[in-house]
Amino acid sequence: MKISKKILEKAQHLRQQIEQHNYNYYVRDTPTVSDAVFDQIFRELASLESQYPELIAPDSPTQRVGAPALSTFQEVQHRSPMLSLNNAFDEEAVAEFDRRMREGLGLDQVTYAVEPKLDGAAISLLYEDGVFIQAATRGDGTTGEDVTENIRTVRIIPLKLTGEEIPALLEVRGEIHMRKADFIRLNEKQIAKGEKVFANARNAAAGSLRQLDSKITAQRPLSFFAYGISECQGLTTPETHDGMMALLKKLHIPVCLERDLVCGLSGLLDYYKKMSLARSSLPYDMDGVVYKINDLKQQAIMGFVARAPRFALAHKFPAEEALTRVENITVQVGRTGALTPVARLEPVSVGGVTVTNATLHNEDEVLRKDVRSGDTVSVRRAGDVIPEVTGVLLENRPASAKAFKMPKNCPVCGAPVIRLENESAARCTSGLYCPAQRKGAIIHFASRRAMNIDGMGEKLIDQLINKEIVKTVADLYTLDIPTLSQLERMAEKSAHNLINAIEKSKKTTLSRFIYALGIRNVGEVTAKDLATHFGSLDALIKADVTRLENVFEVGPVVAQSITAFFNEPRNRDSITRLRQAGVSWEEGPSLSTIETLPLSGKTFVLTGTLERMSRDIAKDEIEKAGGKVTGSVSKKTDYVVAGAAPGSKLEKATTLGIPVLDEQSFLELLH
Ligand code: IVH
Repeated sequence: MKISKKILEKAQHLRQQIEQHNYNYYVRDTPTVSDAVFDQIFRELASLESQYPELIAPDSPTQRVGAPALSTFQEVQHRSPMLSLNNAFDEEAVAEFDRRMREGLGLDQVTYAVEPKLDGAAISLLYEDGVFIQAATRGDGTTGEDVTENIRTVRIIPLKLTGEEIPALLEVRGEIHMRKADFIRLNEKQIAKGEKVFANARNAAAGSLRQLDSKITAQRPLSFFAYGISECQGLTTPETHDGMMALLKKLHIPVCLERDLVCGLSGLLDYYKKMSLARSSLPYDMDGVVYKINDLKQQAIMGFVARAPRFALAHKFPAEEALTRVENITVQVGRTGALTPVARLEPVSVGGVTVTNATLHNEDEVLRKDVRSGDTVSVRRAGDVIPEVTGVLLENRPASAKAFKMPKNCPVCGAPVIRLENESAARCTSGLYCPAQRKGAIIHFASRRAMNIDGMGEKLIDQLINKEIVKTVADLYTLDIPTLSQLERMAEKSAHNLINAIEKSKKTTLSRFIYALGIRNVGEVTAKDLATHFGSLDALIKADVTRLENVFEVGPVVAQSITAFFNEPRNRDSITRLRQAGVSWEEGPSLSTIETLPLSGKTFVLTGTLERMSRDIAKDEIEKAGGKVTGSVSKKTDYVVAGAAPGSKLEKATTLGIPVLDEQSFLELLH
């Protein structure tokens, strides 16, 4: 079919709009339209492209869903080598670097561009006439792997450049990474699906980047920052690194906000200190900062040594990995009853913090890493995360090293331990009758990101549980100064402070409260999603599995955990007592939003081929409108949507007298 100019322009216009909204959402962090409006524009483009398949182009946003899986990656010869950076671990090495730069350039003071050293995987992106055409990993620096299809799914990366002047050819280098919150959410999802948990955001990013099936990458929340241009044709390019970054920004390629320009050694060291302090509150992981001479001519004068530029330096944060010996492997019982093997270590300093324990995650992990008591192991500590054992030095293994065995009974309460078929954790079976689970639940409830009861630490909770003063979280609100003052290491003043902190914690938010309840598989992010979706605790308690599954990212496993939690009388009783004690929060609209959605409570069955959308998209659309899609027709089905060549489901619908919609009427109903 011949495509008219009008249709072509329409498609171009829609694509431009989508790119701009993606940019506003992912890069500027300030969306200007609602998700619904964005979806509508997207659908319009998708339907235009399905009507005129010749319109489909690799730079169309509809192509971000992933391509057919590959069997191997093609090799890519880099147009110029992808280099590494020289590292500095202390101030002397930085002073030495600055001295070399001043002497090499014959200057009293050098201006440096400074930026975070992101912890992810290096990538090269190639644009021809403004259209994204290739992405390659670093590989050995000369030859990388072609991950174009994977990168196409990363929404923060433009498929088409925007700006007044578009270079004929542009090669951008930068770091693919995963933001901390996205990483936590991904792991929550992996747990809920019973899939592999990633040890840290860097592994998650690097692993997602190297998926042979780009449809998997499309599900992973990857992010990107550019840190340089290695080639630019058809444009006069700026004379400084800082100018290059500004050019990228103009073209809508994401660059890091925390970059800066500084003068001399003191400028470098001040930036390092500033970023060390900011590190924990930034949304992404970094493992140091990078210093680069800002002036590109000066960069050229300094040149390169071996595989790294002489004009740049990575100033790393203290090493976060160290070697030590495993004294013993014990088992800890967490608040959900999960038994976590923990390596008890000879104390060792990792990145300036003394580490004595490291998590071994679960039984399979201990066996996979083959960690035994007596082994010499490497221990890694990343940010706020619990230290973990990353490897064993087998050559140092003593003959007496003992292999780990998961106990058959809970080491705390003696109840039998079970491990369900598709779960990675072995669990104690006695629920809140197990003091360890009770203690875990209370520690979690009082923790900073939950109810934030300042001063309610682990040692104190131990005493409260052991003396049976506190049995459930609600008992915390019955504590008084005389009771607290009897405890060890609790003077009247601290008892007073604690009571004040308990009182203060009563005023909270719905999402904190949901998180504090410690519902299995409901982490901080899911708690926030639930709070916004339902607006009130009662609406959440009342929600059945179907309604819960309407919440963004809540699947059957999480939904099941939530209903199981609220069906347990002891939990409901705790909540009533907490509310009676005065725990409160501001509630949003008390009805769940789904009750006002057009297809709320309606069940659909899809059959045959739809012309304008795939069945997956149709399912998404129905769910977004509050409905549900099931696989077979029954009396409970509200509508059957029949496309071309429908199957036996259509016959069954007719027999049962269930309304059948063709594609057009289905679209009308949706909108
Ligand atoms: S510049 C000429 N800047 O660190 C070398 N690299 O250790 C180009 N990295 O492979 C690198 N953040 O993937 C540069 N702001 C930053 C960076 C950065 C992270 C990575 C990069 C490189 C590795 C070198």
